[in-house]
Amino acid sequence: MRELIPEGARGLDAGCGSGARDVFFYWQLGYDVVGFAAVDENIRVAKELHPEIAEKVSVADLSKPLQHTDESFDFVMCNAVIQHIAPDLVASVTLPELTRVLKPGGVLQLMFKVGDGIKTLYDKDYDAERTFQLYSADDVVSSLTGLGCEIIPQVGEKLGGLMYFTDPKPADHCLLFALKSN
Ligand SMILES: C[S@@+](CC[C@H](N)C(=O)[O-])C[C@H]1O[C@@H](n2cnc3c(N)ncnc32)[C@H](O)[C@@H]1O
Repeated sequence: MRELIPEGARGLDAGCGSGARDVFFYWQLGYDVVGFAAVDENIRVAKELHPEIAEKVSVADLSKPLQHTDESFDFVMCNAVIQHIAPDLVASVTLPELTRVLKPGGVLQLMFKVGDGIKTLYDKDYDAERTFQLYSADDVVSSLTGLGCEIIPQVGEKLGGLMYFTDPKPADHCLLFALKSN
């Protein structure tokens, strides 16, 4: 990990989930990481599970401008979040905000559900049917390119390019790493 991101690097987990698992993980590795989620309960659980990072997690909404200053993070993660936000807001607010707060030379990790329109499926974690917004990988890449980022390609065995997988729900996902140009 530290070969890619130096220890102490500043990171943001945008939409950190209930319990802020990755904020805690990166904090344990020595990164200066903060996270937020839109749901109060997610953050309450994070503070209860991991009191060590209580000051590093907060409630915020990625469909609105973020409070963080420009170019303040070395890395930004946003995994399984834009599936909850309408495409017009993702294009006009969320992706511009995620890239605005990234330093030049910083990396955005973005994971999203792939497809057209919306998908409703049974989510066993919630024991309920849930509806998700799907995204075209081409559209996401085009938006990120317009925001001054380029997709980090796959080189040898290192992760890169557009990486696809299907989870057990099942839903198809795309994961990418985008480098903000200097
Ligand atoms: C499926 S969880 C993903 C959690 C985590 N990123 C992961 O990869 O495990 C979705 C998270 O996105 C958050 N979320 C949904 N809509 C959001 C929004 N508009 N702004 C910020 N967070 C949002 C939810 O509160 C939840 O924490």
